[in-house]
Amino acid sequence: MSLFRKKSLDVLMAQAGDSDKGLKRTLGAGNLIALGIGAIIGAGLFVRTAAAAGQHAGPAVTLSFIVAAIGCAFAGLCYAEFASMIPIAGSAYTYAYATMGELIAWIIGWALILEYALGAATVSIAWSEFLNKLVGGSIPYEWSHSPFERALDAANVMHTGIMNVPALLILFMISALLIKGTQESAVVNAIIVIIKVAIVIVFIIIGWQFINPANHHPYLIPADAKPAIQPDGTEYSYADTFRHGWGGVLTGAAVVFFAFIGFDAVSTAAQEAKNPKKDMPIGILGSLVICTVLYILFSYVLTGVAPYTDFVKSGKEASVAYAIETYMHGYGWLAKLVTVGILAGFSSVILVMLMGQSRVFYTMSTDGLLPKAFSDLHPKFRTPYKSNIILFVFVGGFAGFVPGDVAGNLTSIGTLLAFILVCVGVIIMRRNDPQRIRPFKTPLVPLIPILGAIVCAAMIYSLDNRTLFTAFVWMIVGLVVYFSYSKAKSKLHNPAEILPHASDFE
Ligand code: ALA
Repeated sequence: MSLFRKKSLDVLMAQAGDSDKGLKRTLGAGNLIALGIGAIIGAGLFVRTAAAAGQHAGPAVTLSFIVAAIGCAFAGLCYAEFASMIPIAGSAYTYAYATMGELIAWIIGWALILEYALGAATVSIAWSEFLNKLVGGSIPYEWSHSPFERALDAANVMHTGIMNVPALLILFMISALLIKGTQESAVVNAIIVIIKVAIVIVFIIIGWQFINPANHHPYLIPADAKPAIQPDGTEYSYADTFRHGWGGVLTGAAVVFFAFIGFDAVSTAAQEAKNPKKDMPIGILGSLVICTVLYILFSYVLTGVAPYTDFVKSGKEASVAYAIETYMHGYGWLAKLVTVGILAGFSSVILVMLMGQSRVFYTMSTDGLLPKAFSDLHPKFRTPYKSNIILFVFVGGFAGFVPGDVAGNLTSIGTLLAFILVCVGVIIMRRNDPQRIRPFKTPLVPLIPILGAIVCAAMIYSLDNRTLFTAFVWMIVGLVVYFSYSKAKSKLHNPAEILPHASDFE
């Protein structure tokens, strides 16, 4: 059997049709936009903006957001075409199965683990940081950091992390919630979105008055910028090509790209959309546009309020609260409020990521590429509970023992890989199946998909070598699993086994 055997689009459409019977189509365009924003605004904005500014782009992190948004817009247009055409779970994995065949679909499914599972780990690490900030730093450093992190305290004593317990705790609570089947209703999600967006807008409006123009000059980090001091007392140099000027802006784009992850999660809700043909593109592209505008304004204010070098040291993680407390005197209440709102917001991101991951696993399992445990449903709750438990152990391993920036960059690379293949998939599908009805058509094909793939590839290229190497090892492990297990177990070996699977969730 060929490695490039494809899943027929007609089988997929039958699954989508079947989902009409099983899943309630309750989400309108507004709900989908809210779902998108619920999954999008999180650690990327509240944590990684400061990391990108402090380590790579300086105030020009606003330009990094624009570069990342352009890459996402191209990919978003391609996602919109697929999501309106094949409105079922599995997202990029499913699209790849129909266009490029099983091996590429497997690679994408494997890369999506980096996106969703590691995305959840990264956001849970950020959740831990903000919780610690809220309780006045009373959680010991050792029990709120990974073994790879260390820092000097005020008394000049060095502390080394052991395990990030709060990150494990939030993952446990959300996994339990997912197993129980408590789904975020559109209303609850909308409330969280309103809180998150309100916090961002309040920070922009109040913070605007505290912008110190000197912090915005020069706008790009100069090659001869003075090194910043890191938490462990060592210097952080800006001499490297990717730590100043336009090289820094590009790397900054790869770092803040994380902030956009989630708009593709809208596509996993395709089978719950009332009118996926029209509303999927609105949900995907609408949430992307709203978030982009907020991100640019937010990062402009943040780097105007605090000098970017601050974000290499104490303000690195809980950056918004740090900036408010240090530079916006009289607004201590805002720092507390922001922190509470961010904690709630992060929780919804973690929830959507873990749910998205379990759905991708579920689809891969029903296709035979992963063991059946990943698609076993709980007899009472009708949720893929075994998958949720395995995920908790896996994601918890990262959240408890790996630093946030490592997990975050791996998340970005997995997502970027998926985006590239979705862009390529649009071109292939247009050639192989030109007659298929496309409720939403990506404009200017093949230009837009090609540009999308190039921008995303450039962002991958600018990530650090450690991330690239780790992702490479991850993909090799994926290929070993495929050739030693999944290839032989694939249901495409036996078409009679291909069952509609989209309708099993409640
Ligand atoms: N975009 C999501 C976040 O920033 C993953 O937390």
